[in-house]
Amino acid sequence: MEKDEIILAFESSCDETSVAVIKNGDVIMSNIIATQINSHKRFGGVVPEVASRHHVEEITIIINDALTEAGISYGDIDAVAVTYGPGLVGSLLIGVTAAKTIAYAHNIPLIPVNHMAGHIYAAAFVDKLQYPLLALMVSGGHTELVMLTAPGEFSIIGETRDDAAGEAYDKVGRVLGITYPAGKEIDRLAHLGQDTFDFPRAMSDSDNLDFSFSGLKSAFINTVHHADQINEKLSREDLAASFQAAVVDVLVEKTMHALQQHPVKQLVVAGGVAANQGLREALSARLATEMPNVQMIVPPLRLCGDNAAMVGAAAHIMRAKNIFADETLNAQPNLNFARA
Ligand code: KG4
Ligand code: ZN
Repeated sequence: MEKDEIILAFESSCDETSVAVIKNGDVIMSNIIATQINSHKRFGGVVPEVASRHHVEEITIIINDALTEAGISYGDIDAVAVTYGPGLVGSLLIGVTAAKTIAYAHNIPLIPVNHMAGHIYAAAFVDKLQYPLLALMVSGGHTELVMLTAPGEFSIIGETRDDAAGEAYDKVGRVLGITYPAGKEIDRLAHLGQDTFDFPRAMSDSDNLDFSFSGLKSAFINTVHHADQINEKLSREDLAASFQAAVVDVLVEKTMHALQQHPVKQLVVAGGVAANQGLREALSARLATEMPNVQMIVPPLRLCGDNAAMVGAAAHIMRAKNIFADETLNAQPNLNFARA
């Protein structure tokens, strides 16, 4: 029997500091996540300097917690993996430096991981992945349709031309007085209201697979400001439901187009916005009626947001492909997959 593969994984690209120990690419031995959301809430978004400082304060504590919870020591580790982009440069650097230091000090191979690959491979904890597969990647910074022709082979077939879906949620949330990040609360309100405002669904009828959310965001903000000016009280629940219906319609429509153009067996929904109940329900309903042979995989809620377990899952794929880095590894804030 082959020896188990143990990967120590790091994630610090935005406002979560996380370290995980992953066995054989799909078993979570530990996944410690320290979120800084409370420190950023009062600013209405992530403040890069504040984020870096928190990562520095947390990381050594979290490394120890992750090792202790997994019941392993440095001698058991086959590879150290780290998110090196995309993300905030100061935040990324903390994880990259910690990972490089441990790899160097204990003579362990280092694996560089793209944060987006991590979000997609969170699905490996749910089921065995089959290729080619399509991923709908929806987070605070990204909205992309990504084709994986083989393990670790990514290409973008559709992307947002302006705001990311999560970013639109957060900006609209601000107008409703909801603290950052607003996605979860808008999702909750949406389930209590009706789609009465008929907000625009940009580019949803074309075969093109790109997204645009800035028109929707502007329409929403204009509606709320206009009502304020004439002292009209709008239903927050209906506003949330209408906004969410527009976002979900576009995401679902584009994903169905992509599946028609690129037949696959599995659809992975990844990133923070994959936590959205409305999106999960709408996508699975459309698939059930139109493409019952496509399996939808959505990671459990805790693995949708930023975490190091997903980085370990992606690193397992990279290790099999012999993708390693040396001590010159640097943060790449604008790292992205190639466009098909
Ligand atoms: O992937 P993630 O944790 O961080 C990035 O890499 O961006 O995604 C965070 C984003 C935020 O914009 C947040 O508002 C959004 O995910 N989000 C949601 C939900 N939960 C989190 N958006 C819609 N519905 C949700 N339930
Ligand atoms: Zn993320």
